[in-house]
Amino acid sequence: MKRFRPYRVNQETRDRYADVHLPVQALIYPYFVVEGMGVKEEIGSMPGVFRYSIDLLTEDVGEALSLGIDKILLFGVVDNAVKDSSGSAGYAPDLLIVRAVRAVKAAFPQVTVITDVCLCEYTDHGHCGLLDPHHDVENDTTLPLLAEMAFRHAEAGADFVAPSSMMDGQIEAIKKRLAAAGLSTPVLAYSAKYASAFYGPFRDAAQSVPGFGDRKSYQMDFRTSGQGLEEIEADIAEGAAWVMVKPAMAYLDIIVRARSRFTETPLVVYQVSGEYSMLKAAAQAGYLDEERTFYESLIAIRRAGADYIITYYAKEYAKLWKE
Ligand code: PBG
Repeated sequence: MKRFRPYRVNQETRDRYADVHLPVQALIYPYFVVEGMGVKEEIGSMPGVFRYSIDLLTEDVGEALSLGIDKILLFGVVDNAVKDSSGSAGYAPDLLIVRAVRAVKAAFPQVTVITDVCLCEYTDHGHCGLLDPHHDVENDTTLPLLAEMAFRHAEAGADFVAPSSMMDGQIEAIKKRLAAAGLSTPVLAYSAKYASAFYGPFRDAAQSVPGFGDRKSYQMDFRTSGQGLEEIEADIAEGAAWVMVKPAMAYLDIIVRARSRFTETPLVVYQVSGEYSMLKAAAQAGYLDEERTFYESLIAIRRAGADYIITYYAKEYAKLWKE
């Protein structure tokens, strides 16, 4: 008989044998930025997550930093009135997210600022790319717009640009645009991004619900098993510095496979809005112990192979870590 229970006999031994570690520096905290001053509004479907105007964003980034969180992901949330069919509010000069990047980097140069590059938050139809006359999302005409958006972010001082629209060739288009401007900002590619119902609360947060249809013609079908790896491979070939699998918990198999196949490229995993809201709601109903559940989830994502985890639980994890 092989005896395993000695590994678990008490807390001290369990700690000694635990070989999965998740430092706070491995976490990336997402922020939603809005216009205005003094704005901090809670997102209905994501208790504990807020939309901030730039002044309060900067303040909050300072608080996150004091907890050890030094990487953030920024989403711009603009008024419906400025949205148009081509998402021009996303790449005009002096756009919201550019001002946010500048403010955060000016106040905290040590914070790694990643910006989301996608049209869905800026188009009046809520899709991640331009539409053709048949209302299908058009890949190739979307590329220069994404490239322009990434250029604005990079020029403002973003440390990474993160294209999330799932257009083919977006990494290469962005890399070329940046190079033409003499910028070498690295790209964090949302590579294996599945068309997932778990993004529901995010669309409430970012006010980016598609006006019609869904995102299945560009985001991945979760009934495929190998395509995610091909997407990652293609993004690395196009010049992605870091790659991503998204969502997290239902996709641990993809994470494991990506980790073992692409050993040289940092792997980022996004624990998405729906994963957060599920735990929150269950905890608020008293069905789950929140702290233990999010801790276990994050450790599992790390164990599967994530180098970095984007999570709305970053601050709560960091507080737990401090204790
Ligand atoms: C698109 C984008 C989405 C998310 C990140 N970037 C929404 C979507 O693709 O539908 C989802 C993140 C989350 O659910 O937390 N810009």
